[in-house]
Amino acid sequence: MDIREEKLYLAPLYNRFPLSIVKGEGVYVFDENNNRYLDFASGIAVNSLGYAHPKIIEAVSSQVRKLTHISNLYYTEPQVELAKRLVKLSGLDKVFFCNSGTEAIEASLKFSRRWGKEKKKYKFISTLNSFHGRTMGSLSVTGQKKYQEPFEPLIEGVTFIEFNDTKALEEELRKGDYCAVILEPIQGEGGINPARQEFIETARYLCDKYDTLLIFDEVQTGIGRTGKMFAFQHFNVIPDMLALAKGLGGGLPIGATVINSKVTESLHYGDHASTFGGNPLVTSVASVVIEEIEKLLPHINEVGNFLGKLLKEKIAPLDDVLDVRGIGLMYGIDTKSNARSICERCIEERLLVITCGKNTVRIVPPLVINEQEIEEGVYILEKVIKGGI
Ligand SMILES: Cc1ncc(COP(=O)(O)O)c(C=O)c1O
Repeated sequence: MDIREEKLYLAPLYNRFPLSIVKGEGVYVFDENNNRYLDFASGIAVNSLGYAHPKIIEAVSSQVRKLTHISNLYYTEPQVELAKRLVKLSGLDKVFFCNSGTEAIEASLKFSRRWGKEKKKYKFISTLNSFHGRTMGSLSVTGQKKYQEPFEPLIEGVTFIEFNDTKALEEELRKGDYCAVILEPIQGEGGINPARQEFIETARYLCDKYDTLLIFDEVQTGIGRTGKMFAFQHFNVIPDMLALAKGLGGGLPIGATVINSKVTESLHYGDHASTFGGNPLVTSVASVVIEEIEKLLPHINEVGNFLGKLLKEKIAPLDDVLDVRGIGLMYGIDTKSNARSICERCIEERLLVITCGKNTVRIVPPLVINEQEIEEGVYILEKVIKGGI
């Protein structure tokens, strides 16, 4: 394709890398000239089973022959089947399906307001440096001014505290008019910042004490990315609501808000809806994704440990590197030089990595990646970072 045409026809919103990708296979993608790239980005933590996974091909083809979409005016089995899996895995009560991460967050915010209506609680607590999406509600709880400022005024009643600051959390919650606290157990877009165990535990304790809901945004960390099905399982703390998207659909667009019985009891027919949400195509594929990820969890832990060890050995000691952080197959490398230009140089060396945070290189490969492929990618990263861009 002529990439100049993008500028002619598409809204000027994405600062894309100069690469047109046409297909993928396993953990590799291919450009128009059939150049092969090792993918350490997986479509921003989405393509967990890699590309052209036979189980996904089979699920898409078989469901598309039967029924792609029919709306939520009728019952469809794949939707119920996926909800059943998510309820069993999370220990929560019910599921609402939508089409993206930001919609899963919007639903969690609306459900919080619905739950808090009679109690006259409508405010939210969120954390600085968080990222919860781009629609007006999600943006309003996103703790980064650069995303918010161009669109102010946003929805009112949101207080931001420092991530991991339990004292600030208690000071706010004590005021008593908050319907929910929203947290990423590991901040993703903000720079791969894991929460402290004590912060998550205290958040749960305080939310119960002050009768406030606890929402975990696991849009990026959910569905095996961190080595457990959900990141909250590392902390042994169960939220009242869980937002999922990205890795759930194996590349098809899906979002899910999983809620506990307290939230379920506050909802009524017509309170919220989505035309496409939970359609038979995406939900039948997502069930297959979950089935595969459940089997992959030991593998993810093994290769995740391998990746962590290799990054600490080969990347952390480099002059240009300030810090290496992460868990499972989700790592960030803080650099002194420009993270974006490291990504560009990696593309020249046939490796896809992406940025996050202020100046962090993010590694979120497909969860099916093996040790040899990890070595290949870390070798390229080392070479590029050593090159001193
Ligand atoms: C933690 C988190 N929440 C919400 C979102 C928004 O998801 P989407 O881009 O699918 O709307 C993202 C996207 O990066 C995310 O990482």
